[in-house]
Amino acid sequence: MVNKILIVYYSLTGNTHLIAEAIKEQTGADIERLKPIKDLKSESGTRFFWGGMHAKMKQKPKLEPLKHDPNDYDLIFLGTPVWAWTLTPPIRSYLELNDLSSKPLAIWNCAAGNGIKAMERLKKELQHPNTVAEKTFTQPLSNDSDEQVKRAKEWAAEIINSLS
Ligand SMILES: Cc1cc2nc3c(=O)[nH]c(=O)nc-3n(C[C@H](O)[C@H](O)[C@H](O)COP(=O)(O)O)c2cc1C
Repeated sequence: MVNKILIVYYSLTGNTHLIAEAIKEQTGADIERLKPIKDLKSESGTRFFWGGMHAKMKQKPKLEPLKHDPNDYDLIFLGTPVWAWTLTPPIRSYLELNDLSSKPLAIWNCAAGNGIKAMERLKKELQHPNTVAEKTFTQPLSNDSDEQVKRAKEWAAEIINSLS
């Protein structure tokens, strides 16, 4: 039975945030948006270079204080943009601070290109023993937004049903 749900995500330019809000609307989950103390500027032309490098180097930036303890939840949704075909540094920081291995995990990513390859890499890196679902979204802020929000809500509803 899934009583308490937590959504954990990072978003630099709003795509992953849009999906997090859709999942929240569908499920009534609590939300943990990860914010590095020193983040890249979402408007900066050099964000691809620096962000890509930080992602490749598997950096773990210091995060602003977290609001929720994942141990209090029955299901975690984890969302990340794809950077350099892998997960974003703030998600690495979070996973170092929090052991999610005992929790059912539903993962989504947002990418400019094909997120499926990145999802395979992501799952390999996480080695999570109980990944219950995964979903990829392609630039949902600017690309068929309503449809992708609908997909996110349907996806979240399916997961809850399957765990009930
Ligand atoms: C530093 C950086 C690296 C990226 N690398 C990739 C990539 O390897 N493959 C891809 O499909 N998209 C890549 N993107 C695009 C983002 O994954 C995509 O725009 C995503 O929707 C952004 O999510 P956000 O708006 O929540 O930050 C990259 C974007 C940034 C800023």
